[in-house]
Amino acid sequence: MDKLVVEGGLRLKGEVKVSGSKNSVLPILAATLLTDAPCVIKGVPNLRDTVTMMRILRALGKSVEFDKGTVEVRAGRQHNLVADYKLVSTMRASFCVLGPLLGRFKKAKVSLPGGCVIGVRPVDLHIKGIRMLGGRVDIESGYIVAKTPGLKGTHIYLGGVYGSSVLATDNVMMAAVLARGKTVIEAAACEPEVADLGEFLIKMGARIKGHGTPTIEIEGVKHLRGTEHTIISDRIEAGTFIIASLMTKGDITIRNTSVRHLGALFDKLQEAGVAVRSAENGVRVSYRGKIKPVNVTTLPYPGFPTDMQAQMMSLMSVTEGISLITEKIYPDRFMHVPELNRMGARIQREGPHAIVEGVRYLSGAQVMASDLRASASLVLAALRAKGKTQIHRIYHLERGYEEIESKLQSLGARVWREKE
Ligand code: UD1
Repeated sequence: MDKLVVEGGLRLKGEVKVSGSKNSVLPILAATLLTDAPCVIKGVPNLRDTVTMMRILRALGKSVEFDKGTVEVRAGRQHNLVADYKLVSTMRASFCVLGPLLGRFKKAKVSLPGGCVIGVRPVDLHIKGIRMLGGRVDIESGYIVAKTPGLKGTHIYLGGVYGSSVLATDNVMMAAVLARGKTVIEAAACEPEVADLGEFLIKMGARIKGHGTPTIEIEGVKHLRGTEHTIISDRIEAGTFIIASLMTKGDITIRNTSVRHLGALFDKLQEAGVAVRSAENGVRVSYRGKIKPVNVTTLPYPGFPTDMQAQMMSLMSVTEGISLITEKIYPDRFMHVPELNRMGARIQREGPHAIVEGVRYLSGAQVMASDLRASASLVLAALRAKGKTQIHRIYHLERGYEEIESKLQSLGARVWREKE
């Protein structure tokens, strides 16, 4: 196991290019199960999660090649309709092979993904949608066993206790594209990654309207074809570099990103007194003096993303004054709080809220990464802190940040990996 060592206190300056979106590419890879024709996907980040999804596709019988950011998926020798526990349990997004497998082959057996450190994370909405389309779903020995004589379009309300669900919307959308007749998904997730999946499916020949809005309409078709697609850029990686610039009092130009997908973050930064300027194919964020504390509540898109909550908390922890951070998507997603406090932050958790009292200094410490975005918040804190920070269990970071060390090094950070 590796740890990341960061010597903090340096201003980050320069340019960085954001990779393709992890959350976009994972369901798009799953969508290739809807056809035997070749699909070419470009702008694919080399991450632990994307590699896991490629292994799942291979286990399901696909032939997959990955070279320099391009994935080619072709038909293999034979299909396998069982997605094994070992693979699905390592990554929740793999559960979205259920929709395409059932839609195309009329049966599938997919391991339940289980919980994870950020909360319970049920799949009831996925199952509800699949059942409403005419899938018979049983749970046997930790697996979802789904069968259907043929899925049939219908009207589905997919909202849950915490609002819409990204992967449930993806799963149901992929199941519906080959169903007979028309499906309407109401309370669909509006995240740009859902819209990107919709675009990919349309290129495959699906008939979809309203992807990226709360109401998606799908007219089922008989077959889908292969296609070529370039993944949208990763808005969470972009947001993380924006915070990195502010935390290190730096000046970073972030390329291959769009202001469009980060509206809620920019709104909060504006409230905090930060100016984000547009730059060619990206944005430039430079520290220009005092930042004001702001209250943040995470919400489904276009609200403030839960995947930026931990990073924003790092910024608020060194921002003079008090800020209140409320987590409305995963009320237990606060594993980073005790670790940031080890570095000198003053954060108190009260149920789904964190009260952050800004401090002047953070100091390097030994800390533990618990999940992907929590790891990012610790890296940000470490970049700002005085002295050396050692972040253990850094493999979490590899799930979602491509070449993070070399990107940070190119901006002037002193960061390296060591064996535990
Ligand atoms: C996706 C993202 C993840 C992000 C999350 C919320 C991917 C690969 N992952 O995860 O990075 O943090 O969206 O933006 O795209 N829920 C239910 N029942 C369900 C499904 C979800 O109650 O069947 C709840 C969840 O527990 C959570 C909320 O709905 O409270 C939103 O979760 P969801 O949008 O489904 O997250 P994921 O799609 O798993």
